[in-house]
Order: sequence, then structure tokens, then C-alpha cells
Amino acid sequence: MRILTIVGARPNFVKVAPLMDEMSRHPDLETILVHTGQHYDHEMSRAFFEDLEIPEPHVNLEVGSGTAVTQTAEIMLRLERVMEETQPDVVVVVGDVNSTLSAALTAVKMGQPIAHVEAGLRSFDRTMPEEVNRVLTDAISDFLFVTEPTGVDNLLREGRPKERIFLVGNVMIDALRRFLPHAKHRALPPELCARSKHNGGLAGSYGLVTLHRPSTVDNLWTLRAIWEGLEEIAKEVPLIFPLHPRTQNRMKEGGLCDSWQDASNGVCLVPPMSYLQFLKLQSEATLVITDSGGVQEETTALGVPCLTVRENTERPITLSEGTNVLVGLNGSRLVQEARKILRGEGKKGQVPTLWDGQASARIVRTLVDQIRPDHLSETGGYALPSRDWRPT
Ligand code: UD1
Repeated sequence: MRILTIVGARPNFVKVAPLMDEMSRHPDLETILVHTGQHYDHEMSRAFFEDLEIPEPHVNLEVGSGTAVTQTAEIMLRLERVMEETQPDVVVVVGDVNSTLSAALTAVKMGQPIAHVEAGLRSFDRTMPEEVNRVLTDAISDFLFVTEPTGVDNLLREGRPKERIFLVGNVMIDALRRFLPHAKHRALPPELCARSKHNGGLAGSYGLVTLHRPSTVDNLWTLRAIWEGLEEIAKEVPLIFPLHPRTQNRMKEGGLCDSWQDASNGVCLVPPMSYLQFLKLQSEATLVITDSGGVQEETTALGVPCLTVRENTERPITLSEGTNVLVGLNGSRLVQEARKILRGEGKKGQVPTLWDGQASARIVRTLVDQIRPDHLSETGGYALPSRDWRPT
């Protein structure tokens, strides 16, 4: 069976690492990895392939940055040729980025079965580009691999047939479990150590910050309110803040920071970090402040208190079972909740069932069982799963 897997952006790389590793254990599987090139900076892409030991992609479509429409359309145009040449039996897409939707659209137009890993998550906020990507990808996928029970409910409510939905756990946590021991021994960038030592950080307790969503960083008023909250928290605990390119640009435009050196207020700004460095910092942090989806899950798996600077989350299990607290786009609530954590009153959570490091094994097993040679169609390819999707 030939499986074509598509990645494009930073969170995708973490998810495909355990999947590619698992696929390599099945001698009957031929795997092809395609990188769309949505993320292309060394720190946003190659550094992740190195840390996560992901094989070199067979093809890089090199689409680069652009508007969401250009990015989506370009990926489709370039991917069509690759799919024509490779004729995969199933196309695997992960997560909710523009590359995910583009690849799923291309596959469905070419009549190829699609497996969506991390299906069913819903924030119910259609202003988020990721929510639109999730809803549309799930609507056309044939295998829906889900991380938490609410995802199953969402898909059933949207009329997806239950025999296509598989609650398998979380591939991002597979990666975390596999790489945490390596991360613990990972050296941190010397400039980070030097600067945070200057602020009393790293040796003692510190907070870790990540913000990059358009809804958090694109509006200067919102960004300023959160930044002021961070400066307030940094009076009590040093903060380390690796900056996504989008956030760095917005902070420069808004006059909030000029350079990496600007750490006099206790907030240490650094370039984006590699997977292992970030995982090490996360696992040893006193608190994490984020607007990322994956970081909400990783902190829950690590048992580290997490404050999510968003009005909603598509990962509600991190609230109901994990260490996550939603603080909204509100600087003063952020400070209030951070102080609680610093007083030792942070939320204690538990790790959700099935987040046990075995999700990739369940996914690959399911694909191997479901798309078998005895399902060969008359034309010689593997038979498509039924696309008769009337709600039951
Ligand atoms: C994308 C995902 C988001 C994910 C995030 C992780 C979508 C809709 N969003 O957002 O869900 O959480 O990746 O990082 O797909 N840029 C660089 N170098 C790079 C990549 C991007 O400088 O390697 C800059 C470009 O100016 C670009 C901007 O960052 O325009 C935004 O990049 P883009 O890929 O459009 O989306 P992200 O904000 O990274």
C-alpha cells in the first residue's frame, strides 16, 4: 500500500514524526512524504526535521508565504502533479493548517481516500482560519482519527458515519513521550542562558510564553494589553518568549520591542526554538502562557499549568481533565491567574485516556486493516471506502 503524507507547517512536523516512524515498521507500506513549503525558515522547518528524526521529504512544493488563498491554491496546483505521478492508495493529512485543507481538497478531487489525523476538534469560531480548515477537511475525509471524545461527538453531529471515526489518542503526545528523555539533555541556546541568567531565570522558576495567532497578535490593542500583562507577571517571575515571525513583525510595528536584546523588563525575547529545546523548557517551566493548540495539549501531558490567551479552545479535554485555564484576550485576568500559579494554587490535572504514546500505532494498524489487497478494485487500485455519507 502506498501512503502519501503531507506536511507544511511547524505543528504538522511534530505530528508526522511518530506516524512516519510507525509506518517504517510495516514492510508492506511504501511511504511518500511531501512538504508543501508553507513554513520554510530553518527554525520553523528544518530544525524540526532534525530534532524529530523525520526522513527527508521526497518532494518540497516550495509554496512559501502568501495570502491564505494563494497558499491554498498554489499547494493544490503543485500537489496535483505529485499525486498524478505517485498514485497513492491513501493520503494522510494532519492538523488544521492551510496545507492540511489544500492537500485534502486535492485528494478528494482526484478520487483518493483521505485520512485526517486530529479530526473532530471544534472551537465553533469560524473566524479562525484553522476552524474552517478543520470543518472542511473532516467533511471530505474517509478516515477520521480523533484525539478526544468531544471530537467524536462533533463528527457524529455533523453527520459523519460512525464506522469512519476512530478515537485513537494523540500523535503529538506520542512525539512528546518518545522525545522527552532526549529533550532533558538538550543544551539551550547560549544567548538564552546568558540573558535569562541576567534576569534571574532558568536556574530557578520561569514562565514560558508563545503567541502567534492572528486574533492575538494582529490587533495592536489586544497585543499591547497582553504584553502589559506579561510585563506585570515578569516582575514576579522571569519569562522566556520565543517569537514566531508573525509576532516579531507585529511587535516591531507596534513599537513593543526592537531587538532580541530587549530583556530589561524581565521578558526574554528569543528567536523560535527547536522542538527539543522548547520541550525541555516547557517540561521545567513553572507556568506556560500560550495561544497555541498543541501547547495546551503538551502542558496537559506534562502536568505543567497552562494559561491560554484565547476566548475558546477546540481542545476542551485540556480544561476538563488537564492543566489548562482559558483567560481570554484579557491582560488583567492573565496576571490574576498567573499569580495563582505562582502562589502554588495552579490547576492540577490528569493525562487523558489514550494519550499514552500509542496513537500512531493505532492509526497505522487501522489503515493497514481497512485498506487491504482483498479490497482491490477492478482497476487494480485499492477500493475507495464508500462515500455514501447520509447521517444514520
Ligand atoms: C500556521 C497555521 C497555524 C499554526 C502555525 C504554527 C494556518 C492557517 N495557520 O500559522 O495554525 O499554529 O502555522 O506556526 O495554516 N513566516 C516566516 N517564515 C516561515 C513561515 C512563516 O517568516 O517559515 C512568516 C511569513 O511572514 C508569513 C507569516 O509568518 O506570512 C505567517 O505564516 P503562515 O504560514 O501564513 O501562518 P502561521 O501564522 O505560521
